[in-house]
Amino acid sequence: MDLETVAALGSPAGRALLEAATAYDDGAHARAAAGDPTAVDPLKAVTHLRRQQPYADPRLVAEVLTQVRLRRRARPRLGGLARLILLTDDGLEQATRTVVADLRAQRYAAAGATHVADLGCGLGLDAAAFARAGLRVTAVERDPVTAALATHNVAALGLADLVTVVTGDATEAALLDAALRDADAAYVDPARRNPSAQRDGRSVRVTNPELWSPPWPWVSQVAARIPRTAAKVAPGIPHEMTPPGGCATWTSVDGQLVEAEIAWPELTPPGTRRRSIVVSSAAARPAVAESAVDLVDETPPPVGPVGRWILEPDDALIRAGLVAHVVAQVDGRLLDPHVAYVTTDADIDVSPLATRFEVHHAMPYDLAHLRADLVARGVGHVVVKKRATSLDPDVVRRDLKLPRASGSAVVILARVGDDPWAYVCTPD
Ligand SMILES: C[S@@+](CC[C@H](N)C(=O)[O-])C[C@H]1O[C@@H](n2cnc3c(N)ncnc32)[C@H](O)[C@@H]1O
Repeated sequence: MDLETVAALGSPAGRALLEAATAYDDGAHARAAAGDPTAVDPLKAVTHLRRQQPYADPRLVAEVLTQVRLRRRARPRLGGLARLILLTDDGLEQATRTVVADLRAQRYAAAGATHVADLGCGLGLDAAAFARAGLRVTAVERDPVTAALATHNVAALGLADLVTVVTGDATEAALLDAALRDADAAYVDPARRNPSAQRDGRSVRVTNPELWSPPWPWVSQVAARIPRTAAKVAPGIPHEMTPPGGCATWTSVDGQLVEAEIAWPELTPPGTRRRSIVVSSAAARPAVAESAVDLVDETPPPVGPVGRWILEPDDALIRAGLVAHVVAQVDGRLLDPHVAYVTTDADIDVSPLATRFEVHHAMPYDLAHLRADLVARGVGHVVVKKRATSLDPDVVRRDLKLPRASGSAVVILARVGDDPWAYVCTPD
């Protein structure tokens, strides 16, 4: 993608072509879902577009079809916005999910922010969320093409009045001074991939925060100037990165851990050091678990024998070190001090913070015994889950060779003490 292409895609001809191609793609996927196996065909899409606009520049047609492909890929992450904006592979890879960006923007608004400096705005998905929450945004992006796309995107979303996109390096002192001049809040989502190093066709992840762009020490300096600052970070960050008085938040969406964020004190609910936000499409609002103490100061939860239920905490709680929260909620215990399975006899459902399974049988793991138990129960289909054991769930499921039967079960494999155990369960 180059600036000329952004301009061409944003021109009236480009927009018309993109709209027609997006509508055609939606129709093709609807026909495919209704059982037409030939409906989704790139060649047919090109022919259709050529027929619609015989004089369209072939290069523009190719770019439009790339956008259509990216829009389709973006839909689970960005929802309805995907069909309005322009994307790149790399920009989409790094874009914040709409639901998560909106929750963050609402936190900024609730903390009294009115004007956010978004330093490294990418395609502008967080900037757009801040604007949807009614905040003004100065969005800085050093890559000129990405900045042009962000400018296009905020306009396409009807938010151009609230968002100003500035092209430049946010770490340059003069540009930073200008970006922060009117801002009473800052947000940084550093690039954590190295575009010049590729593996399997994707840019390589950068794990060292000092090598993120902008780098973490610089983010901390911004926070020293603008106390209402938060930054999106990799979910695997060490808990010690959380600044004094600040809070680290891990967020999952429908069971998938999608991001972590570090907030400085003015964006932190009083006394909260660690938090998980679990978004589930089955629930009207996100479930939140939090703790006022650092993970190192956490009192270890009790450990004991398996009860009627096993609960598997959501990954956002596991990363936040909030398994003890689930233990406390269900008056439970851990199966093993180092394994994130909670067990209890109390009939308390804390979903979506944890998924609950009813335990029918517990045994030291032995494939033949497990198979005999499942066959006796009329189980023909199993989902195998595991924690802290080298057993491979796919191999176990295959080696069980269950005969055809209508029953189903969940088999949980976990190391307890030194040995693997198997728990035959049904989902709640
Ligand atoms: C992770 S992406 C931001 C994604 C964005 N939050 C979204 O949801 O669309 C980080 C962006 O920061 C930009 N960037 C990296 N270093 C920068 C710097 N020093 N100044 C300005 N932008 C920078 C990169 O080009 C990249 O587009």
